[in-house]
Amino acid sequence: MLGLSLEKIGMDKKRVFLVGFMGAGKSTVGSLLAGALGWEFIDLDQAIEKQQGKAIREIFEAEGEPEFRRIETAMLNALASKSQIVVALGGGAFAQASNRASIARLGTSVFLDCRLEVILTRCTDDGTRPLFRSSQLRELFAVRQPLYSESDLCIDVSEMAPYQIVHSILEQLGSNRNETFILPS
Ligand code: S3P
Repeated sequence: MLGLSLEKIGMDKKRVFLVGFMGAGKSTVGSLLAGALGWEFIDLDQAIEKQQGKAIREIFEAEGEPEFRRIETAMLNALASKSQIVVALGGGAFAQASNRASIARLGTSVFLDCRLEVILTRCTDDGTRPLFRSSQLRELFAVRQPLYSESDLCIDVSEMAPYQIVHSILEQLGSNRNETFILPS
């Protein structure tokens, strides 16, 4: 447990937030982690799209990034009414100081730290991520790394498969669910 008490890392609040850059694996890992814990999985971007009836790309295009950030923050704060949830945050959510403060109050943050070179082999600019096409992708990545690193737990996931990442998170969170979480052969 790395000398951390569950209370100290916020696990007693039963909300885990997965932090990281676009394509780091937050949604894939989040869904598996929720399954292992028997908790609900919430993809914050999908929840926004459902609530707004529009794709993230459309919100960016029609209303601009500041409005998207306002909606994102409101959606995040609404999670205070829920417990036993694993949340995959959008890549920009944890970059905002007020959101980081909310997340620290609500539960445990876990940074899936993935090298940009690995992300670039996984993600293509398919238009669904407005900021992925940004010519300043490397700069955005560099600016966000230290902010993401403020998470309660940081895991270098660059060389890990999703099941291994879940295993590592469960181990570091001190969850006894890890004992019943079987790695696929
Ligand atoms: C964003 C990441 C996206 C989405 C939006 C903005 C960002 O989420 O929230 O396009 O600022 O990095 P993913 O990290 O799930 O791709």
